[in-house]
Amino acid sequence: MERDENARCWDGNADAWTKLSRAGYDVYRDFLNTPAFLAMLPDVSGRRGIDIGCGEGSNTRLVAGRGARVIGIDVSPRFVEHALEAERREPIGIEYRVGDAIALPFRDAAFEFAVAFMSLMDVPDHARAIAEAFRVLEPGGFLQFSILHPCTNTRHRRNLRDATGKTFALEVGRYFERTDGHVDEWLFSAAPAEAKQGLPLFRVPTFHRTVAEWMNAIVAAGFAIERVEEPFASDDVVRRCPSLQDTQQAPYFLHVRCRKPR
Ligand SMILES: C[S@@+](CC[C@H](N)C(=O)[O-])C[C@H]1O[C@@H](n2cnc3c(N)ncnc32)[C@H](O)[C@@H]1O
Repeated sequence: MERDENARCWDGNADAWTKLSRAGYDVYRDFLNTPAFLAMLPDVSGRRGIDIGCGEGSNTRLVAGRGARVIGIDVSPRFVEHALEAERREPIGIEYRVGDAIALPFRDAAFEFAVAFMSLMDVPDHARAIAEAFRVLEPGGFLQFSILHPCTNTRHRRNLRDATGKTFALEVGRYFERTDGHVDEWLFSAAPAEAKQGLPLFRVPTFHRTVAEWMNAIVAAGFAIERVEEPFASDDVVRRCPSLQDTQQAPYFLHVRCRKPR
Protein backbone atom coordinates (compact mmCIF):
# COMPACT_ATOMS: atom_id res chain seq x y z
CA MET A 1 0.00 0.00 0.00
CA GLU A 2 1.21 3.51 -0.87
CA ARG A 3 1.90 5.90 2.00
CA ASP A 4 -0.70 8.36 0.70
CA GLU A 5 -3.38 5.71 0.65
CA ASN A 6 -2.66 4.84 4.31
CA ALA A 7 -2.96 8.51 5.26
CA ARG A 8 -6.20 8.84 3.27
CA CYS A 9 -7.76 5.88 5.10
CA TRP A 10 -6.91 7.39 8.49
CA ASP A 11 -8.16 10.80 7.44
CA GLY A 12 -11.45 9.16 6.47
CA ASN A 13 -11.64 7.52 9.93
CA ALA A 14 -10.88 10.67 11.91
CA ASP A 15 -14.36 12.17 12.39
CA ALA A 16 -16.15 8.98 13.43
CA TRP A 17 -13.16 7.80 15.50
CA THR A 18 -13.00 11.10 17.38
CA LYS A 19 -16.74 11.18 17.96
CA LEU A 20 -17.00 7.58 19.23
CA SER A 21 -13.80 7.55 21.29
CA ARG A 22 -14.66 10.87 22.96
CA ALA A 23 -18.09 9.39 23.76
CA GLY A 24 -16.32 6.62 25.68
CA TYR A 25 -16.69 3.68 23.28
CA ASP A 26 -12.96 2.90 22.87
CA VAL A 27 -13.19 0.75 25.99
CA TYR A 28 -10.05 -1.33 25.40
CA ARG A 29 -8.13 1.96 25.31
CA ASP A 30 -9.83 3.64 28.25
CA PHE A 31 -10.17 0.71 30.67
CA LEU A 32 -7.01 -1.22 29.88
CA ASN A 33 -4.45 0.01 27.40
CA THR A 34 -3.94 3.60 28.41
CA PRO A 35 -3.94 2.96 32.19
CA ALA A 36 -1.38 0.14 31.69
CA PHE A 37 0.74 2.33 29.41
CA LEU A 38 0.75 5.22 31.89
CA ALA A 39 1.56 2.88 34.78
CA MET A 40 4.67 1.78 32.88
CA LEU A 41 5.68 5.30 31.79
CA PRO A 42 8.73 6.73 33.60
CA ASP A 43 8.58 10.22 35.09
CA VAL A 44 8.26 12.65 32.16
CA SER A 45 7.72 15.80 34.17
CA GLY A 46 9.55 18.74 32.59
CA ARG A 47 10.78 16.60 29.68
CA ARG A 48 10.45 17.21 25.93
CA GLY A 49 8.51 14.44 24.24
CA ILE A 50 6.81 13.44 21.01
CA ASP A 51 3.61 11.41 20.65
CA ILE A 52 3.83 9.54 17.36
CA GLY A 53 0.43 8.80 15.78
CA CYS A 54 -1.37 10.98 18.32
CA GLY A 55 -4.82 10.81 16.68
CA GLU A 56 -7.25 13.28 18.26
CA GLY A 57 -4.83 13.75 21.15
CA SER A 58 -6.56 12.08 24.07
CA ASN A 59 -3.43 10.22 25.21
CA THR A 60 -1.19 13.17 24.31
CA ARG A 61 -3.18 15.25 26.79
CA LEU A 62 -2.67 12.61 29.50
CA VAL A 63 1.10 12.64 28.93
CA ALA A 64 1.11 16.45 28.99
CA GLY A 65 -0.92 16.23 32.19
CA ARG A 66 2.10 14.55 33.75
CA GLY A 67 4.09 17.72 33.24
CA ALA A 68 5.79 16.91 29.92
CA ARG A 69 6.17 19.34 27.01
CA VAL A 70 4.70 17.31 24.18
CA ILE A 71 4.37 17.57 20.42
CA GLY A 72 1.82 15.26 18.85
CA ILE A 73 2.20 14.22 15.23
CA ASP A 74 -0.17 12.28 13.05
CA VAL A 75 -0.27 11.41 9.37
CA SER A 76 -3.93 12.42 9.18
CA PRO A 77 -4.58 16.18 8.88
CA ARG A 78 -8.16 15.64 10.02
CA PHE A 79 -7.09 13.92 13.27
CA VAL A 80 -4.66 16.80 13.85
CA GLU A 81 -7.50 19.30 13.35
CA HIS A 82 -9.52 17.53 16.06
CA ALA A 83 -6.51 17.56 18.39
CA LEU A 84 -5.87 21.26 17.71
CA GLU A 85 -9.52 22.11 18.29
CA ALA A 86 -9.34 20.43 21.74
CA GLU A 87 -6.15 22.38 22.50
CA ARG A 88 -7.83 25.65 21.48
CA ARG A 89 -10.85 24.88 23.66
CA GLU A 90 -8.71 23.99 26.67
CA PRO A 91 -5.10 25.04 26.15
CA ILE A 92 -2.50 22.90 27.94
CA GLY A 93 0.50 23.78 25.81
CA ILE A 94 0.55 20.85 23.37
CA GLU A 95 1.75 21.46 19.82
CA TYR A 96 0.35 19.30 17.03
CA ARG A 97 1.66 18.77 13.53
CA VAL A 98 0.88 16.63 10.54
CA GLY A 99 3.78 14.25 10.01
CA ASP A 100 4.68 10.73 9.01
CA ALA A 101 6.21 8.33 11.54
CA ILE A 102 8.60 7.04 8.90
CA ALA A 103 10.03 10.50 8.15
CA LEU A 104 9.61 12.54 11.32
CA PRO A 105 9.82 16.29 10.64
CA PHE A 106 12.32 16.92 13.45
CA ARG A 107 16.09 17.22 13.81
CA ASP A 108 18.22 14.49 15.36
CA ALA A 109 18.12 14.24 19.18
CA ALA A 110 15.26 16.74 19.46
CA PHE A 111 13.40 14.85 22.22
CA GLU A 112 14.04 13.25 25.60
CA PHE A 113 11.28 10.69 25.13
CA ALA A 114 8.86 9.37 22.53
CA VAL A 115 5.54 7.62 23.02
CA ALA A 116 3.36 5.88 20.47
CA PHE A 117 0.00 4.65 21.72
CA MET A 118 -1.41 1.95 19.42
CA SER A 119 -0.07 3.51 16.26
CA LEU A 120 3.17 1.85 15.13
CA MET A 121 1.36 -1.29 13.92
CA ASP A 122 -0.57 1.03 11.58
CA VAL A 123 2.58 2.36 9.94
CA PRO A 124 3.54 0.64 6.67
CA ASP A 125 7.21 0.25 7.68
CA HIS A 126 7.50 -0.51 11.40
CA ALA A 127 11.31 -0.81 11.25
CA ARG A 128 11.72 2.65 9.71
CA ALA A 129 9.33 4.14 12.25
CA ILE A 130 11.36 2.68 15.11
CA ALA A 131 14.62 3.87 13.51
CA GLU A 132 13.11 7.36 13.14
CA ALA A 133 12.10 7.42 16.80
CA PHE A 134 15.70 6.44 17.65
CA ARG A 135 17.06 9.27 15.48
CA VAL A 136 14.96 12.03 17.08
CA LEU A 137 15.77 10.89 20.63
CA GLU A 138 18.74 12.24 22.50
CA PRO A 139 21.14 9.62 23.94
CA GLY A 140 19.59 8.23 27.14
CA GLY A 141 16.06 8.95 25.85
CA PHE A 142 13.36 6.30 25.63
CA LEU A 143 10.64 5.18 23.27
CA GLN A 144 7.58 3.55 24.81
CA PHE A 145 4.95 2.09 22.49
CA SER A 146 1.89 -0.12 22.53
CA ILE A 147 0.66 -2.25 19.63
CA LEU A 148 -1.93 -4.92 18.98
CA HIS A 149 -0.25 -8.13 20.14
CA PRO A 150 1.31 -9.75 17.06
CA CYS A 151 0.61 -13.26 18.41
CA THR A 152 -3.15 -12.81 18.47
CA ASN A 153 -3.80 -10.06 15.94
CA THR A 154 -3.36 -12.40 12.98
CA ARG A 155 -5.21 -12.80 9.69
CA HIS A 156 -7.14 -15.72 11.15
CA ARG A 157 -8.54 -15.21 14.62
CA ARG A 158 -11.74 -16.41 16.25
CA ASN A 159 -12.95 -16.04 19.81
CA LEU A 160 -14.12 -19.41 21.19
CA ARG A 161 -16.96 -18.77 23.62
CA ASP A 162 -18.72 -20.84 26.26
CA ALA A 163 -22.50 -21.16 26.63
CA THR A 164 -22.67 -17.83 28.49
CA GLY A 165 -20.83 -16.00 25.71
CA LYS A 166 -17.54 -15.68 27.60
CA THR A 167 -14.35 -16.13 25.61
CA PHE A 168 -12.37 -19.14 26.89
CA ALA A 169 -9.75 -19.26 24.11
CA LEU A 170 -8.66 -17.67 20.87
CA GLU A 171 -8.19 -19.62 17.67
CA VAL A 172 -5.25 -18.07 15.84
CA GLY A 173 -3.69 -18.83 12.47
CA ARG A 174 -1.78 -17.34 9.54
CA TYR A 175 0.63 -15.81 12.07
CA PHE A 176 3.53 -15.73 9.63
CA GLU A 177 1.51 -14.05 6.89
CA ARG A 178 2.41 -10.38 6.51
CA THR A 179 -0.36 -8.00 5.65
CA ASP A 180 0.76 -5.05 3.61
CA GLY A 181 -2.19 -2.73 3.78
CA HIS A 182 -5.05 -5.25 3.93
CA VAL A 183 -7.97 -3.05 5.03
CA ASP A 184 -10.09 -4.14 8.02
CA GLU A 185 -13.48 -2.49 8.35
CA TRP A 186 -15.17 -2.08 11.74
CA LEU A 187 -16.45 0.34 14.39
CA PHE A 188 -15.92 0.16 18.15
CA SER A 189 -17.88 -2.90 19.28
CA ALA A 190 -18.88 -1.16 22.53
CA ALA A 191 -20.79 1.54 20.66
CA PRO A 192 -24.56 0.91 20.54
CA ALA A 193 -26.40 0.98 17.21
CA GLU A 194 -27.75 4.52 17.85
CA ALA A 195 -24.22 5.86 18.32
CA LYS A 196 -23.01 4.16 15.13
CA GLN A 197 -25.97 5.22 13.04
CA GLY A 198 -24.94 7.08 9.89
CA LEU A 199 -21.22 6.65 10.56
CA PRO A 200 -19.04 4.99 7.94
CA LEU A 201 -17.06 1.95 9.06
CA PHE A 202 -13.44 2.66 9.94
CA ARG A 203 -11.10 1.51 7.19
CA VAL A 204 -7.90 0.41 8.93
CA PRO A 205 -4.95 -0.69 6.78
CA THR A 206 -3.09 -3.49 8.61
CA PHE A 207 0.60 -4.31 8.54
CA HIS A 208 0.93 -7.49 10.56
CA ARG A 209 4.48 -8.42 11.58
CA THR A 210 5.68 -11.23 13.86
CA VAL A 211 7.06 -10.71 17.37
CA ALA A 212 10.53 -11.52 16.00
CA GLU A 213 10.21 -8.77 13.38
CA TRP A 214 9.25 -6.24 16.05
CA MET A 215 12.04 -7.25 18.43
CA ASN A 216 14.64 -7.33 15.65
CA ALA A 217 13.62 -3.86 14.45
CA ILE A 218 14.08 -2.49 17.97
CA VAL A 219 17.51 -4.06 18.28
CA ALA A 220 18.57 -3.09 14.74
CA ALA A 221 17.70 0.56 15.44
CA GLY A 222 20.16 0.50 18.35
CA PHE A 223 17.69 0.47 21.25
CA ALA A 224 18.06 -1.59 24.41
CA ILE A 225 14.77 -3.14 25.54
CA GLU A 226 14.01 -2.02 29.08
CA ARG A 227 10.50 -3.28 29.90
CA VAL A 228 7.79 -5.34 28.23
CA GLU A 229 4.18 -5.76 29.37
CA GLU A 230 1.17 -7.71 28.07
CA PRO A 231 -1.69 -6.00 29.93
CA PHE A 232 -4.93 -7.78 30.70
CA ALA A 233 -8.03 -6.63 32.54
CA SER A 234 -8.28 -7.21 36.28
CA ASP A 235 -11.44 -8.82 37.70
CA ASP A 236 -12.44 -5.38 38.94
CA VAL A 237 -12.13 -3.90 35.43
CA VAL A 238 -14.14 -6.81 33.99
CA ARG A 239 -16.88 -6.11 36.54
CA ARG A 240 -17.01 -2.50 35.31
CA CYS A 241 -16.63 -3.37 31.62
CA PRO A 242 -17.57 -7.03 31.01
CA SER A 243 -16.54 -7.02 27.34
CA LEU A 244 -12.88 -6.87 28.40
CA GLN A 245 -13.18 -10.39 29.84
CA ASP A 246 -11.58 -11.74 26.66
CA THR A 247 -8.29 -9.99 27.47
CA GLN A 248 -7.90 -12.32 30.47
CA GLN A 249 -7.59 -15.35 28.17
CA ALA A 250 -4.88 -14.34 25.70
CA PRO A 251 -2.63 -11.32 25.12
CA TYR A 252 -4.31 -8.60 23.09
CA PHE A 253 -1.69 -5.87 23.47
CA LEU A 254 2.08 -5.60 23.67
CA HIS A 255 3.76 -2.67 25.44
CA VAL A 256 7.49 -2.09 25.05
CA ARG A 257 9.87 0.47 26.47
CA CYS A 258 13.32 0.71 24.93
CA ARG A 259 16.15 3.16 25.49
CA LYS A 260 18.77 4.80 23.28
CA PRO A 261 22.16 4.17 24.88
CA ARG A 262 24.10 7.17 26.19
C1 LIG B 1 -5.34 3.36 16.48
S1 LIG B 1 -5.10 5.07 16.21
C2 LIG B 1 -4.40 5.56 17.78
C3 LIG B 1 -4.51 7.02 18.03
C4 LIG B 1 -4.00 7.52 19.38
N1 LIG B 1 -2.58 7.29 19.55
C5 LIG B 1 -4.78 6.91 20.52
O1 LIG B 1 -4.20 6.16 21.29
O2 LIG B 1 -5.98 7.21 20.66
C6 LIG B 1 -3.67 5.04 15.13
C7 LIG B 1 -3.20 6.42 14.74
O3 LIG B 1 -1.98 6.29 13.99
C8 LIG B 1 -2.01 7.25 12.95
N2 LIG B 1 -1.07 6.82 11.89
C9 LIG B 1 -1.21 5.82 10.99
N3 LIG B 1 -0.13 5.76 10.17
C10 LIG B 1 0.71 6.76 10.55
C11 LIG B 1 1.98 7.23 10.09
N4 LIG B 1 2.59 6.65 9.05
N5 LIG B 1 2.54 8.28 10.72
C12 LIG B 1 1.92 8.90 11.76
N6 LIG B 1 0.71 8.51 12.23
C13 LIG B 1 0.12 7.46 11.65
C14 LIG B 1 -3.45 7.28 12.51
O4 LIG B 1 -3.79 8.42 11.76
C15 LIG B 1 -4.17 7.19 13.86
O5 LIG B 1 -4.38 8.47 14.40
